[in-house]
Amino acid sequence: MLQQIQEAVAAIRKQISFDPQIGIILGTGLGQLVNKVKVQHSIRYDDIPHFPISTVESHNGRLIFGELGGKQVVVMQGRFHYYEGYNMQQITLPVRVMKLLGIKQLYISNAAGGLNPDHKLADLMALNDHINLLPENPLRGKNLDEFGPRFPDMFKPYDETLLQQAGDIAARLGFRLHKGVYAAVTGPNLETPAEYRYMRVIGADAVGMSTVPEALVARHMNLPVFAVSVITDLCTPEALEHVTIEKVLAAAAMAEPKLTALVEELVSLQTI
Ligand code: HPA
Repeated sequence: MLQQIQEAVAAIRKQISFDPQIGIILGTGLGQLVNKVKVQHSIRYDDIPHFPISTVESHNGRLIFGELGGKQVVVMQGRFHYYEGYNMQQITLPVRVMKLLGIKQLYISNAAGGLNPDHKLADLMALNDHINLLPENPLRGKNLDEFGPRFPDMFKPYDETLLQQAGDIAARLGFRLHKGVYAAVTGPNLETPAEYRYMRVIGADAVGMSTVPEALVARHMNLPVFAVSVITDLCTPEALEHVTIEKVLAAAAMAEPKLTALVEELVSLQTI
């Protein structure tokens, strides 16, 4: 594992000279942020050894290096999901690679179903906690002591300063930013009505198919994480209806200007 990570890092360093300060993972239908990045380099995942190739059509599969909000960023355009068939090590390899490239913070976006009755379509929710319902854990197996401890603490999985700053930015820009708990499931099917009810009962505000593996691996390395969900479908018993990928993508597109502004402003505030 360590060797694979090091080989991927070496291959990137051989192609480009760039020291990213912040890593950003873009979720389903949320690729527009890249248009705000002054791109300096772009490397396709298939040109990086051991990087999985994204199989989801709505993802592009490139690492983009450039400037955003006055900072050097590396953006994953296209991420890997468990439902695609990858194992947790594959899904999270890019996070460790970005860390070795030098990132000091990780920002993650995703599309999620809204369980909290306050949520409206295309709202944003910053994660202040999560519930991991995935059947595998990326930290299982021999611990990579170089990266972090065997039993990483999860007392504060999402960085409180970044959460506070994001809340202030949303207030200033005039849109709602919920804060809440994200439950991670495998997918690819969406949930049954009973499953959505169950997730609400156990304390989740939103449910999606990503983010938690990457956040776990980042926290193992003590990397501060900011994660935000775009609410692409409403899953309370009253609001529940058939969900299609088209509807999810349409809601993600509606939210994209807010998400893009939020991330850009948040990046520009950092002193790292
Ligand atoms: N459930 C799980 N994942 C999702 C959903 C959902 O309702 N919406 C977007 N991703």
